[in-house]
Amino acid sequence: MRFSNLADRLAANPNRLYTEHGKATGSGRTILDLISTNLAEQGWVFPPERLQAILADAAPQARIYRPDSLGLPSAREAVAEFYRAAGIPATAEQVLITPGTSLSYFYCFKLLANPGEEILCARPSYPLFESIAQLAGLQLRYYRLQESRGWEIDLDHLESQISTRTRALVLISPHNPTGMVAGRQSLEELAAITCRHDLPILADEVFSEFLYDLEALPRPASTPAPLVFTLNGFSKMVGLPGLKLGWVLLSGRQARVRRSLEVMELISDTFLPVNDLAQHMVGGILESREAFVSGCRGWLQRCRHIAGKLLSQCPGVDFTLPRGGFHLTLKVGGEEVDEEALCIDLLRESGVLVHPGYFYDMAPAHLVLTFALQHQLLDRSLKALCQGIREWKKRQNS
Ligand SMILES: Cc1ncc(COP(=O)(O)O)c(C=O)c1O
Repeated sequence: MRFSNLADRLAANPNRLYTEHGKATGSGRTILDLISTNLAEQGWVFPPERLQAILADAAPQARIYRPDSLGLPSAREAVAEFYRAAGIPATAEQVLITPGTSLSYFYCFKLLANPGEEILCARPSYPLFESIAQLAGLQLRYYRLQESRGWEIDLDHLESQISTRTRALVLISPHNPTGMVAGRQSLEELAAITCRHDLPILADEVFSEFLYDLEALPRPASTPAPLVFTLNGFSKMVGLPGLKLGWVLLSGRQARVRRSLEVMELISDTFLPVNDLAQHMVGGILESREAFVSGCRGWLQRCRHIAGKLLSQCPGVDFTLPRGGFHLTLKVGGEEVDEEALCIDLLRESGVLVHPGYFYDMAPAHLVLTFALQHQLLDRSLKALCQGIREWKKRQNS
């Protein structure tokens, strides 16, 4: 029997850090996990009575299955209303419901590019697109985020990376893992680039509700870019990843939006993958999200403050305080640092799990972590991390 080349590529060797982590947890050791971002595990759950009531309302409506390949009209309208409230003039006809943002990416990739063609993504970045691009048979190319400028987009570099094979560019804002939020000016310039090269923007806004020191999220959908796919969903917004509910809002020039929707409808119709019950819950969840979002945002603000304070007392560690999202990146030295060895050492000696920057395609000597942890646990974990880095550096220098 033979498997595809893709199967061989996907069956990569297990990572050393995760092998160590498995050994540690398997032996019963408690690890301070600065990676997992499951809000529910930190006590942040969508108000249970409200969710129960929304589910009870949805259940009778879902009794008779009437699939719609773009998504149920009521769900599409609720999503459009979400954007109208944010100042984006959206209608239900511009919305596609999906089973999550990851699949939204896949649909967009299949719509926009042929095998071998390119999608332009930020470097560093959350390592999601590599696998999605592999599944879609596409190549990724990268534009720089500049650490020395608070991880701002290097727009000159971005434009220089556009080739005749580029079919779309991905913008994650708020960005995972740097916490960068693209400002209005950057978005205007980005839109001008996409107009010059006639390229669509895939705007990943899954962290849109979690902003710090910012009133509102600047959105590519409010620029003159020729075609924008705005991706979001319930996994981060309301802490319900298991509901598997996401969406794409298409905006820009009408003819392109129309054509894109026609094709995406066919792609979606092939699988009809979105749970009907979950779709009937969309309106209720969006209407009642504010209590969850504002409580969680306030809690995250405090987490961010604790992280900023503790990490600024950690010698030899540099970082930019995130403007959005739940993650931050630390620079812990120069080229000489072996990040993977450091992470394994931190796990073994200090019982702390963080990611090496290379998982996110960062320049050497970076660590990635989340600050979305219960405050006491965050305090304990970051103190253990700083102590671990200090001891590791001492050992390296001795
Ligand atoms: C930036 C970003 N986009 C997309 C996703 C995936 O979202 P979903 O759970 O809706 O597939 C994640 C998950 O962590 C993410 O960090």
